[in-house]
Amino acid sequence: MYPSSQVPKIRKDKIFIGKELISKAPKIEGVPSGIEGLDDLFFIIETKKKKIEKKSLKGIPKYSVLQVTGVSDTGKSIMVEQFAVTQANRGEKVVFITVETPAIFTINSLKLRAAALGYDFNKIDKNLILIDVATDNALRENIPDLIATMSYAFDTYDAKFTVIDSITGLFENKEMTARTIIRKLYNVMKENFQTALVVSQKRGSHEELTAEAAGGYAVGHILDGTLVLAKELINSSYKANLYHKKIGEIIRLFRIDGCRLSAHDTDTHHMQITDTGLIVIGESIVEH
Ligand SMILES: Nc1ncnc2c1ncn2[C@@H]1O[C@H](COP(=O)(O)OP(=O)(O)OP(=O)(O)O)[C@@H](O)[C@H]1O
Ligand SMILES: [Mg+2]
Repeated sequence: MYPSSQVPKIRKDKIFIGKELISKAPKIEGVPSGIEGLDDLFFIIETKKKKIEKKSLKGIPKYSVLQVTGVSDTGKSIMVEQFAVTQANRGEKVVFITVETPAIFTINSLKLRAAALGYDFNKIDKNLILIDVATDNALRENIPDLIATMSYAFDTYDAKFTVIDSITGLFENKEMTARTIIRKLYNVMKENFQTALVVSQKRGSHEELTAEAAGGYAVGHILDGTLVLAKELINSSYKANLYHKKIGEIIRLFRIDGCRLSAHDTDTHHMQITDTGLIVIGESIVEH
């Protein structure tokens, strides 16, 4: 029926028994994100004395590769910079792949974020490993080279944390291939047990508070979860009443739109960018 080279092969090496797998599975735990108000939005469910309880992870799930999405000026870069310097301050090496802004500018933003968080930048700058894709069109176009460079950086610096700002810049003019590119990047981060925040840009036409980003829903589907950042102009008395704001003001909103690695809060929350340039997640807008 099949030519001998195409006879379907049984891949016994890809069949696993749950009991054996669970002993090898990573423990579900949180990594403090450095973003006020975020860490308690992820939790696990535990059964204690036959009662089901929610227990905060006090961080984003370790080994998760999460999308951070929103339209321009919603605070995506600030959020991932805050995360990067927080990990560096915990003594962890962070690989920061900068796709839009040249690395010499990104390092200044990281320094600002560290200062706002009260970290001594001189003590943490050695933990920040930047890959400058912004100044190299050839590297931007060559995903295998980028992946090899990332792998090299993970190994050489023993890094367990990654930031990409942004992946959208890696598939400009070729959104058809977004899925393939994102899957390759996802795989190299998973193989190297990275905990990662990956920025992707939303177009104005996308629904504000969903995982859809440039490249369609591909990004959200492939990665482990999505953090959505939005801003809204108060342009009606309805919104002014709803958010207790004046017409003409801007409000910022935040939502976790799915996460496969742990349970999470699903409400839309108020969000602020403080005058020192830090993201703070506030109360839910849902009245419980
Ligand atoms: N120190 C600060 N004080 C007040 N607001 C600030 C401060 N620093 C940044 N912001 C606000 O945060 C906004 C943008 O944040 P950020 O650069 O993270 O957006 P972004 O979502 O990454 O946008 P893009 O998609 O264009 O890269 C700034 O334009 C500004 O409005
Ligand atoms: Mg940005």
